[in-house]
Amino acid sequence: MKNIVILISGGGSNMRAIVEYVAQFGWQEAGLARIAAVVSNEPNAAGLAFAAEKNIPTRILNHREFTSRESFDAALQNVVDEFSPDLVVLAGFMRILTSKFVVHYEGRMLNIHPSILPNFKGLHTHQAALEAGVKVHGATVHFVTSELDNGAYVMQSCVPVCSDDTAQTLAARVLRTEHVIYPQVLDWWVHDQLVWQNGQVVVKNGAQQVLMNYEI
Ligand code: GRF
Repeated sequence: MKNIVILISGGGSNMRAIVEYVAQFGWQEAGLARIAAVVSNEPNAAGLAFAAEKNIPTRILNHREFTSRESFDAALQNVVDEFSPDLVVLAGFMRILTSKFVVHYEGRMLNIHPSILPNFKGLHTHQAALEAGVKVHGATVHFVTSELDNGAYVMQSCVPVCSDDTAQTLAARVLRTEHVIYPQVLDWWVHDQLVWQNGQVVVKNGAQQVLMNYEI
């Protein structure tokens, strides 16, 4: 049984999509994997209530109670390791992590970023996409390395940018695809189709690593 620990900071819609996918395909019943815990740095993260409702252990670690990034990350590592994770899933986790933390989970930590990387790293990606005038935008699931929003890409989605889009409407269109590609990547991982080797990603069996969503 593989253990997945999910880290959130807010609404947790990606976490919800993953939890629902795991339940739908009976991973826990099949002895494949379980969501071992949901951890949030924000005490009021809406996603916590959903996880608790599903009887998933939850933990809160408020970063404001720590004097440095290093001490927060060390405490976070202790909390996460309590659940013996085979995979750490950053799902809307809005903290920059120290190299020490990242190296500890090298090859077993994924993130989702709301842009087609390497475009629009950092925050406010949807506004940046609108200002740049790009015609397609999307999201990327990638392994986490010490460099922000970098690391081997596993899957990307793309959606059209419409002339009347606001950052909000565009974000909502991208988010719908995030809820498809993140569970898909975990599906590959749980079935040993996703291989991370020295910073390179291989998805076995010729799986399609792009989701093109033309629905507006
Ligand atoms: C998502 O767009 C995610 O990619 C970004 O934060 C947004 C909120 O995600 N990092 P969620 O609803 O909390 O999963």
